[in-house]
Amino acid sequence: MSLNSNNKANKAAKAKLEVVKPIKTKPYNDIDLNNWKLYENIKTGTWWEFQAREKSNGHSYDYHGNYIPQIATQLIERYTKKNDIVLDLFFGSGTTGLEARNLNRRCIGVELKSDMVNYVSQKFSPKELVVDVNIIQGDSASTEIKEKIQARLDIMGEKYAQLLVLHPPYDDIIKFSNLKEDLSNCQTTEEFYDLFKKVAKNGYDLLEQNRFAALIIGDKYANSRYISLGFECQRRMEELGFVTKAVIVKNITGNEKAKGKTANLWRYRALNGGFNIFEHEYIMIFQKTKLKKISKTNTRE
Ligand SMILES: C[S@@+](CC[C@H](N)C(=O)[O-])C[C@H]1O[C@@H](n2cnc3c(N)ncnc32)[C@H](O)[C@@H]1O
Repeated sequence: MSLNSNNKANKAAKAKLEVVKPIKTKPYNDIDLNNWKLYENIKTGTWWEFQAREKSNGHSYDYHGNYIPQIATQLIERYTKKNDIVLDLFFGSGTTGLEARNLNRRCIGVELKSDMVNYVSQKFSPKELVVDVNIIQGDSASTEIKEKIQARLDIMGEKYAQLLVLHPPYDDIIKFSNLKEDLSNCQTTEEFYDLFKKVAKNGYDLLEQNRFAALIIGDKYANSRYISLGFECQRRMEELGFVTKAVIVKNITGNEKAKGKTANLWRYRALNGGFNIFEHEYIMIFQKTKLKKISKTNTRE
């Protein structure tokens, strides 16, 4: 090869190396699919295990029943773009709002208990509360709340939210208040399902088409039998038009109060009663989208 043609070949090889691949993202997140190997932190499996609760960036275990921030991180990075609005209809201690802020997203949170709303508001700066994080005191199952959320969306320059987060009480497992609208205060589990469906319907109507919703929920035992709150609520979400995309099982480490002293007691009760002790809850992912026609090859006969 002559010196000249050698130079040409080198130049061509260099030019090839310098070609920067364009960023390739889905309409619902900022993950660059041309560099998908870089996103090792994003979980794509159906078993999520976390060793300890994240306690930095404003998070703390200050509310019995709050979820671990890592759940919010995963959901927000996977299903939103920067500046998108996350709508959380059971805001509690504001874990979703804090993580939305940390990841440069915006948030609208609804919480029934006014003392909680006052407490959570102190976690954000006055400017954040005007621009990025809107906290509303109200009943997420009511029709009035929909109008209030729509008004906030309007102020924020959006018609819809881009991610819906639902972390309801697990029926009466933790009683959050004595208020009649409180989902943890229902007379029966059927009433809990009915109220949950009303909340989910509001969420469905306020969510942008083709965007995602996450339901975080655990099951319970009552009257010596297993009650599948998770799958019952999933069915109600589907009845509203949501399409299930994933059912994730998450270990509950970090969710629970230290069981130290009572662990043996529960083990004895389990052995005595023929049941197993809860170590998991569900994170169910849904999309507001049209269900594709099921082809025969997808069905089992
Ligand atoms: C499981 S906690 C959510 C915790 C939250 N994800 C966090 O990390 O702090 C459920 C919350 O829903 C609230 N809640 C119950 N019924 C409600 C309703 N009808 N409307 C709005 N919030 C309600 C409870 O007061 C409680 O704070």
